[in-house]
Amino acid sequence: MKNFKFLSGAALLVLLGTSMSAQAYDADWKRGRIYYRSVCTSCHTTAPVGAINPSTKTKADWSAYLLLDKHAKGKDSVSKYVTKAYRASIKASNKAAEKFADTPDKELQEDIKAFLIKGAKDGDAPASCS
Ligand code: HEC
Repeated sequence: MKNFKFLSGAALLVLLGTSMSAQAYDADWKRGRIYYRSVCTSCHTTAPVGAINPSTKTKADWSAYLLLDKHAKGKDSVSKYVTKAYRASIKASNKAAEKFADTPDKELQEDIKAFLIKGAKDGDAPASCS
């Protein structure tokens, strides 16, 4: 019986270890803020859609919006503007795109999401876009 307890404890540790190593990337909302303000907003202000403040949507709205990934009334996708290819295409004239040229797309997407959720109407720190 003692042995059994020991074994199940060990199995639990192994399980915990695996789930921890497979844990999602820890998003950096500050990096997301820089990217949103420098890349997303700089186009919105010239587009001219006008700046889109994170605080104009709720956390649920942003989550749904990013999950759906339909941008500019469905003309293209949000994720397109987070890709390495897009960053490479604007990095000559955009400091943030240059700075994060090699950041994996997935990480940057998580960072932007973290910033938008934090800055949402009902988020921890409702934010403007500049
Ligand atoms: C190259 C220009 C450009 C870039 C870069 C850009 N956007 Fe946009 N965005 C637009 C335009 C244009 C519209 C408005 C389209 C319309 O209303 O017809 C828009 C609209 C939006 C909207 C309003 C809802 C919608 O989809 O119509 C959101 C939210 C948005 N963008 C988020 C983002 C985020 C997040 C990023 C950065 C990851 C980003 N955009 C990057 C041009 C851009």
